[in-house]
Amino acid sequence: MTTLKNDRFLRALLREPVDTTPIWMMRQAGRYLPEYRETRSQAGDFLSLCKNTELACEVTLQPLRRYELDAAILFSDILTVPDAMGLGLYFEIGEGPKFHKTIRTEQDVANLPKLNAKSDLSYVMDAVSTIRSALSGQVPLIGFSGSPWTLATYMIEGGSSKDFRFSKEMLYRQPEVLHALLDHLADAVIDYLNAQIDAGAQAVQIFDSWGGALAHQQYIDFSLQYMQKIVSGLKREKDGRKVPVILFTKGGGQWLEPMIMTGADALGLDWTTPLNVARKTAAGRVALQGNLDPATLYGSTQEIEKAVKAMLDDAYAHGELTGYIANLGHGITQWVDPDQPKVFVDTVHEYSAKYLK
Ligand code: CP3
Repeated sequence: MTTLKNDRFLRALLREPVDTTPIWMMRQAGRYLPEYRETRSQAGDFLSLCKNTELACEVTLQPLRRYELDAAILFSDILTVPDAMGLGLYFEIGEGPKFHKTIRTEQDVANLPKLNAKSDLSYVMDAVSTIRSALSGQVPLIGFSGSPWTLATYMIEGGSSKDFRFSKEMLYRQPEVLHALLDHLADAVIDYLNAQIDAGAQAVQIFDSWGGALAHQQYIDFSLQYMQKIVSGLKREKDGRKVPVILFTKGGGQWLEPMIMTGADALGLDWTTPLNVARKTAAGRVALQGNLDPATLYGSTQEIEKAVKAMLDDAYAHGELTGYIANLGHGITQWVDPDQPKVFVDTVHEYSAKYLK
């Protein structure tokens, strides 16, 4: 087993001392990088890229060649899970993801196959093990999944949605059907993430991108409850090292306390949550990750530096010198100039040393 040369990301997740603040960026491999667009066209399209082990590994490593990131994230998509359940995922240029089949009735849910991640998503596991060996201990590798609620919205709507009309109709008209779907997905996600951990993922993140669209009690009952089930079902240790789990609910800043109660190691924050307030709430019980507005990267070098310094001042405002990972508050967009993330990454490392050295 190769030793990890840079483990500050894992150390910060476990609230152990670090020499400088670790940083990675959600969606760090993607269309803002010309080399990504080049590799994608070589693969043919996005899904073929996800299914091609060598090329998925290549795009995972691309952002690490440009920036001094402290973690790599598996190149894949959250929607591989419903695809493996037979919904037929496809992408239409400029329209985002779509499914050939939707899930709208009790019968649709009952007909969903039980996922066997190791065989049904073997291309993801091959990507994880290939990336892990290609990294040869440079930085840790993050695995991921969508949350049951977030996956369910795509399966019910048949694609992306702004108002979640059919998902919310199911929630209020047939809550037991939605619960059956979410429970089925929670079991699938446990199997999927444990398979990624077996294949070499050293931390995992659950993307609850649409939890913030729910009302308070509905968030607890229909999103958080199932993430809780996942946290309880995950392997939390591999090869003598802890495998930390990060929960990221976009728009979830008001639910930090119930999220902490799930037993997750860390919470991801979007840019609407004041970091110093969240650190006070966390009170050393979980690490926090985030939360620069991704649009900050449209700004000048000076503006990015200013925003990053303010974020770090906030993160360390109460004198707690670990348990913090810098990141964006959501994924990087395709319109970012690839020179700008370097300012973000380097400022995090340089300025945080002021607190940590
Ligand atoms: O972070 C990384 O670099 C790893 C790769 C990754 C992708 N998707 C690649 C991708 C990760 C972690 C995801 C997660 C994902 N996928 C989420 C949760 C995170 C979030 O942003 O809230 C969601 C909701 C999806 C579903 C999805 N996939 C959508 C809505 C889209 C289209 C919109 C968009 O941004 O393009 C995708 C496609 C997708 N997934 C792309 C990439 C790089 C772009 C596809 C392309 O290359 O044309």
